[in-house]
Amino acid sequence: MTQDELKKAAAHKALEFIEDDMIVGVGTGSTVAHFIDGLATIQDKVKATVSSSDDSTAKLKALGFEVWDLNAAGSVDIYIDGADEITEHKQMIKGGGAALTREKIIAAAADKFVCIVDQSKQVGVLGSFPLPVEVIPMARSYVARQIVKLGGDPEWRQGVVTDNGNVILDVHNLSILNPGELETQLNQIVGVVTNGLFAHRGADVVITASKEGVQVS
Ligand code: A5P
Repeated sequence: MTQDELKKAAAHKALEFIEDDMIVGVGTGSTVAHFIDGLATIQDKVKATVSSSDDSTAKLKALGFEVWDLNAAGSVDIYIDGADEITEHKQMIKGGGAALTREKIIAAAADKFVCIVDQSKQVGVLGSFPLPVEVIPMARSYVARQIVKLGGDPEWRQGVVTDNGNVILDVHNLSILNPGELETQLNQIVGVVTNGLFAHRGADVVITASKEGVQVS
């Protein structure tokens, strides 16, 4: 199976978690794109969706889903999203698609977070994938200098502007032995909007697709 077929297998397994009348939070990325296509086949079960990016909103609306503002939705029954890296403790790096801030907000508001990945995303220690940090544009250089003091090598993702009008620093060469501590440290730098560590709010369920099959943990 190709990596894309594995992403599709994980995404379709997540459909089993959708119950009648749910408000479904929808993440961003190529794995989630398969989930959105699958969700369209059980659309009658979905009360409304809440979206983590303009890209996913466009996909959902094209298929006829209602996309509610999170403030109007109030609560989110379930949040389905991918990850760039995930550990056995269900802690993640996210934000490869630059949608980390809205993803983190919906994950925080959701009753249940189901993460859908192919096996290549499973890691022992987070940090091989450069850690995305969303930053207010005028703070970019200042934040980069503070990140260097924490031992990282920040690289400006040039040409990328987030849905919130901000910029992304991708932090290389971190071996993240304590994800919760680093998540907090990065959040304390003035000018940081969000960082892509999902440690304090990890996933509740992880669906991993490999050549051997689909595993739910
Ligand atoms: C989007 O900002 C990310 O958090 C995605 O969830 C992550 O990059 C996974 O993307 P793929 O499903 O495309 O691998």
